[in-house]
Amino acid sequence: MSVRKAVIPVVGLDTRFLPATKAIPKEMLTIVDRPSIQYIVEEVVSSGIDQIIFVTSEGKSAIENHFDYDFHLDCVLREKNKRSLCKELDMISNLIDIVSVRQKKPLGLGHAIWTARHVVGNEPFMVLLGDDLVLAETPCARQMLDLFNELQEPIVAVQRVPQEQTCQYGIVEGMATDRDRIHAVQGLVEKPAPGTTDSDMAMIGRYILTPEIFELLGRTTPGHDGEIQLTDALQALKNIRSMYAYEFEGTCYDAGDKLGYLKAILAYGMRHEKLGADLTAHIRQLAADL
Ligand code: UTP
Repeated sequence: MSVRKAVIPVVGLDTRFLPATKAIPKEMLTIVDRPSIQYIVEEVVSSGIDQIIFVTSEGKSAIENHFDYDFHLDCVLREKNKRSLCKELDMISNLIDIVSVRQKKPLGLGHAIWTARHVVGNEPFMVLLGDDLVLAETPCARQMLDLFNELQEPIVAVQRVPQEQTCQYGIVEGMATDRDRIHAVQGLVEKPAPGTTDSDMAMIGRYILTPEIFELLGRTTPGHDGEIQLTDALQALKNIRSMYAYEFEGTCYDAGDKLGYLKAILAYGMRHEKLGADLTAHIRQLAADL
């Protein structure tokens, strides 16, 4: 089966980015010239997926509005003859078919994904988290979809992190396969206490899941931090079918964290078609002055 749908949950409280995120979702913070969520949606579109399901809540409507058609703004821009802006806004509202479901209480990432079960139905699907921006030659989602088309088993994207940081991530314990970058998952643990795992493979916010996950999520009880954790349901899924961890090609920026966000702005800014050369020259100058 092929993957046609992507679930993007955005109901988190965004506490790491307060006070900036008191009134706006972190996914709407700007990276260079567009909100971070637009990079995620563009990754989905360029990977060939047909539909996005946002899991939202009260206070997150700015995200849906960003990808909607704005009749009033369109009229004003046309009157002012701002054609290229009209075209760009039109492109954003026509990027992909988007539907939304509501997570009524922020009970955890696992619960957010479970909320999308009726829209996803009985087929494999992708999950992308708005925090994690991946700069890559081939979009991270596309790399994972290519692998899924071969393996037809759940896949989690991972990156290596220093041992002292493993307590901040969902960690995968895996066994190398005969293929570079691909590991057979043996166990998963959410934010393990320091010293309790030897693995340094941390999950980032990209998953391809099979529909059995919904029943497993429905049975998952609150875990780490009192939340219904996707990692716990992944462990249950791994017990009933094979699962793979994939060390994606590219660099992941955690744009939900203040320092990660600044790093993302620099990385994306330096690669920007119009601004990249000037920004790079400025950074060189700053570095020389240190
Ligand atoms: P995080 O663990 O990053 O939490 O959620 P958060 O609230 O977004 O951010 P901080 O840590 O408080 O700053 C991981 C992902 O799961 C979604 C979030 O939107 C984020 O994309 N999520 C989390 C939900 O959709 N619902 C929830 O109940 C919890």
